[in-house]
Amino acid sequence: MTVFISTPFGDDTAGFNDLPAHVWPRGAKREEDGVVTIAGVPLTEIAEEYGTPVMVIDEDDFRSRCRDMARAFRAPANVHYASKAMLTRRIARWVDEEGLALDVASENELRIALAADFPPERITVHGNNKSDAFLRLCVDAHVGHVVIDSHQELRQLEAVAREAGVKQDVFVRVKPGVDAHTHEFIATSHEDQKFGISMASGAAYDAAVTAINSEWLELTGLHCHVGSQVFDAEGFKLAAERVLALYARIFRECGVALGYLDLGGGYGIAYMPGEEPLDVEAVARDLLAAVQEAADELGIAAPTVVVEPGRAIAGPAAVTVYTAGVIKDVDTSYTTTRRYIAIDGGMSDNIRPSLYGALYDTRVVNRFTEGEPTATRLVGSHCESGDILVQDAKWPDDIAPGDLIALAATGAYCYSMASNYNSFGRPAVVSVRGGRVTPMVRRETVDDIMAREY
Ligand SMILES: Cc1ncc(COP(=O)(O)O)c(C=O)c1O
Repeated sequence: MTVFISTPFGDDTAGFNDLPAHVWPRGAKREEDGVVTIAGVPLTEIAEEYGTPVMVIDEDDFRSRCRDMARAFRAPANVHYASKAMLTRRIARWVDEEGLALDVASENELRIALAADFPPERITVHGNNKSDAFLRLCVDAHVGHVVIDSHQELRQLEAVAREAGVKQDVFVRVKPGVDAHTHEFIATSHEDQKFGISMASGAAYDAAVTAINSEWLELTGLHCHVGSQVFDAEGFKLAAERVLALYARIFRECGVALGYLDLGGGYGIAYMPGEEPLDVEAVARDLLAAVQEAADELGIAAPTVVVEPGRAIAGPAAVTVYTAGVIKDVDTSYTTTRRYIAIDGGMSDNIRPSLYGALYDTRVVNRFTEGEPTATRLVGSHCESGDILVQDAKWPDDIAPGDLIALAATGAYCYSMASNYNSFGRPAVVSVRGGRVTPMVRRETVDDIMAREY
C-alpha cells in the first residue's frame, strides 16, 4: 500500500491550527477562541444542531467559483457545472441563478435538475449506457444537448427522436487519446476505457457524419474529457488540438461548421497545503487562443468553447465535520506506536482515500490544539481495515474524544459517492451564507434505509 504523509508539519504542529486559504472554503476562519467558522457560522453550532458527520457548503464560495469559471471562459453559459460532483435541487438552483449550464450524467441527475426547474435547454446529458427511457426523457424534456457516447446510442437516440417527432441537438463524445496524468480511475480520454468514440480508428468521424446525415439529430458540437483532477494544462491543449483537427475535417469534408467544442472538466484543485490549484484563467486563455487560431486557419468563425468543471466549483466549497470517538495507541514495532483516531463516518461518506489514495487537509475545528506531534492515522467506523481517511499524519497529541475534526475540500465526489455501507445513513448537508445556516439534506436514518425493503 502507498504510504503518504497527509500533513506537512513534520515535527512542528504549530501550523495545525492554520486553515490554508487555497484549500479551505473562502468563508472559513479560525476565530480567537479557536473555533472555526464558515460564513460567520461556528462549525460547533452546526455540529450541535445537525449532528456529525455533516457536510457544510459555503454558498458564496460555490457561487464565486461559478463566476470565476464564467469569467475565464467568457460567459456563464459556456460553463456546464458537472453535477456528478455534488447535486441537490438547491445546488441546481444556485447554478441556474449564476447563469451556468448543467451537465448531468444519469437519468436521476436529469430528473433532479428538472425538479429544480433548471432550464432544460441549458442541460447537457452524458452517460455511456443510456437506456431508451433515459433518452426519451431527454427528448421529451427538450434538453439542450445529448452527448452521444457510442454508435449504438446514435441509432438508439435517432429512433427515440423519430418516435417523438423531435430533432435533437447532439454532441459526439470522442477519445482524443491523451494521457491525462491522473489516477487511472479518473483518466477518461485514452483509448482503452469505456467513454467516447475512437478518433484514431476513424469511428468518431463516421459517427459525426451519421449524425449530420440524420433527419432526427442535429450535430452541434464535439465533446471530449481528458480526466479529472488534472494539473497538466498541456493535456487539455493537446486534446483540444486533436478534437479541432476532427472539427476541421468535418468542415472540409461535410461543409458543416459545428457551433461547439465541449472540452469537458477535470480542473485540478488543491487538497493539501503544498498543492496549487490549476490556473484556470491561464488554461482558458490558452485554449481559447488555440481554438481561435485553428478557426482562423479554416477561415471560419471559432466554435464556442464549453467546459464542464465539477470539482473546481464544488470541491473547495465544502468541509465535512466529524466527531472524534475512540483513540488508540497501536504498537507498530517494539519502539514505535501510531495513534488511531476513529471518527463517526468514514468510507461510506468519503470513499476517495480508500478508492484512490486521495489526501485531505484535516484540522480540529472546535478549539486550538497545542500538543506534541505524534504519528496519527484517521480512521472511520466501518468494518473494514482499509476504512482510512488520513493514512499517515503527524498531529498534535492532545486531540481527544469529542473533538470536532473536519476534512476540507470535500464538496466534490464525497456526498455524491456516498453509500450505506454497514447501514450507515448518509450525512446531513447544510449550506451557510451571511451568518445563516440552511439545511439542505437531512441525515439519512435507519428508517430511510429500511423503507425500501418489502
Ligand atoms: C464528461 C465529464 N465532464 C465533466 C466531469 C467533471 O470533472 P471534474 O469534476 O474533475 O471537473 C467529468 C468527471 O468525471 C466527466 O466525466
